Amino acid sequence: MNPESIPLHVVVLAAGQGTRMRSDLPKVLHRLAGRPLLAHVLETARALRPQRLVVVHGHGGARVREALDAPDIEWVEQDRQLGTGHAAACALPALGAQGVVLVLYGDVPLVRPETLQPLVAAAAAGRLGLLTARLEDPTGYGRILRDAAGQVVRIVEERDATPQERHIDEVNTGFLAAPVERLRAWLAGLDCDNAQGEYYLTDVVAAAVREGVPVEAHDAPPEEVLGVNDRGQLAALERRYQRRQAEALLRAGITLRDPSRFDLRGRLEAGRDVEIDVGVVLEGEVRLGDGVRIGPYCILRDVEVADGACIHSHCVIEEAVIGPGVQVGPFARLRPGTRLAARAKVGNFVEVKNSEIGEGSKVNHLSYIGDTTMGRDVNVGAGTITCNYDGANKHRTVIEDEAFIGSDTQLVAPVRVGRGATLGAGTTLTRDAPPGELTLSRVPQQTRKGWKRPVKKVRREE
Ligand code: UD1
Ligand code: CA
Repeated sequence: MNPESIPLHVVVLAAGQGTRMRSDLPKVLHRLAGRPLLAHVLETARALRPQRLVVVHGHGGARVREALDAPDIEWVEQDRQLGTGHAAACALPALGAQGVVLVLYGDVPLVRPETLQPLVAAAAAGRLGLLTARLEDPTGYGRILRDAAGQVVRIVEERDATPQERHIDEVNTGFLAAPVERLRAWLAGLDCDNAQGEYYLTDVVAAAVREGVPVEAHDAPPEEVLGVNDRGQLAALERRYQRRQAEALLRAGITLRDPSRFDLRGRLEAGRDVEIDVGVVLEGEVRLGDGVRIGPYCILRDVEVADGACIHSHCVIEEAVIGPGVQVGPFARLRPGTRLAARAKVGNFVEVKNSEIGEGSKVNHLSYIGDTTMGRDVNVGAGTITCNYDGANKHRTVIEDEAFIGSDTQLVAPVRVGRGATLGAGTTLTRDAPPGELTLSRVPQQTRKGWKRPVKKVRREE
C-alpha cells in the first residue's frame, strides 16, 4: 500500500506533573524561546500533516488547554499519572481504527519533522518505528537492549537497569510509531511490574518482538532529543535553541556582534547588512529593512523597522512602525501604536505612545508624546509633555507641519498647534495655537531690587 494513503495520528503526551521543575506552572507551559514547550512540539506535529492530533493532558490541564487550544487539537484527560503507557492508552479512543500512531513527548521540544518521518514510514509498513540516540551521558534515559545479531529486543528504564545495562549509551528518545491496531493490543497487555509501579510505553517494544513484528530503530542527532525535566535542562536547551537560530541568521548575512548574547523569541525577517549588537532581545514578529542597526541592550517586540534606520542602545520598542532613516534612542521607549515617518528622530528619555511623528520631525530629549498626530519637520523641545489623560478619557493632540514647540511645554489635550506655529518655552497650552504665530503662557518675569537672601540665625552660648 502507498504509505501516503495511510492516515497518520499524532499523540502528544503532556500529562506529567513535572515535579522536578518545582513550579506551579505545568511543565509543558514553561517557555523555550518565548513559546511554551508544548507549542514547539505541536508545530513539529503539524508539519507531519496528521489526520488527528491528540494531546494527553493531566495536571493543570485547563491551563494547558487555554494556552494552546486550536480547532485541530483533540484534548484527552489522563486524571491519574500512571505512566507513559497509560497516557498513550488514554488517547486511543480519540483515534480511528485505521492508520498509524506517532507518539511525541510534550517535554522534548527540539525534534524535527524530518527526523520523525522514517518512524512514520516504518509504521506504515507494519513495523514498530523507534527513535534512538547515542548520548555522551545517558543518565536518566531508558536504554536500548539489542541481541547478538544487533536487533532491538527491549527497552529498560534506568531505574530498572542492571549496572551493566546502565553502561549502554544508546537511549530511547521516547518517540515511536506503530500501526494503531497493534499499539492498541500491546498497550492492553502492559503491566506495572517495575521500579516505578507505572505502565511503561517503552514495554511495547518487547511486546512487538514477542509477536515477531520487526522493530526499526532510527538514530537521531543527540541535540534533537534532549528533554526538559528541570530548570537546568530548560536553560541549557534555550541556549542551544538560540545558538541554532543565531547560526542561521549569520548564514543569512546578518551581523550579530556576539551570537551567544542574542535572543530571538519569535520570528525575524531581515534585509541585507543588518547589524545587531550584544544583548538584543527580539520578540514576536520583527522585520528589519536593509542596513538597519540595533545598538546594545534593546528589546523589540512586534516591530517593523525600515531601511537605514538606527536604534541606539537601551531602547524598549513594542508594536511600532519605524520609517526609513529614523534615529531612535539611546534610552527611548516606544509603546504600541507608535509610527515614526522617514528620518524622524526620537532621542533619549523620550516615551511615545499611540502617536504618529511625521517626516523629519524631532523629539530629542526627555518628553512624553501620547495620542498625538504630528506633521513633518516639527521640532519638540526638551521636557515637552502631552497631557492626554484627564483621569477618565484620553484626548488627542495635533501638531501641524513645521511647528516649533519650546522646551518644557505642556499640551493639554484636546488641543491643536497650527502649521508653523511657535510655542514659547514653558507654555501650558490649553487652547489651540494659531498657525504661524507665537503663542506663550508665561508669568511675567520680575526682579526685586535690593532683595536680600535670608541668613541663618546663629545662637550664641551664654
Ligand atoms: C521517558 C521514557 C524513557 C526515555 C525518556 C526520554 C518511559 C517509561 N520512559 O522517561 O525511556 O528515555 O522519556 O525523554 O516512557 N507523561 C504523561 N502521563 C504520565 C507520565 C508521563 O502524560 O502518566 C508524559 C510527560 O508529561 C512527558 C512524557 O510523558 O511529556 C515523558 O514522561 P517522563 O516522566 O518525563 O518520562 P521520563 O522519565 O523522562
Ligand atoms: Ca522526560
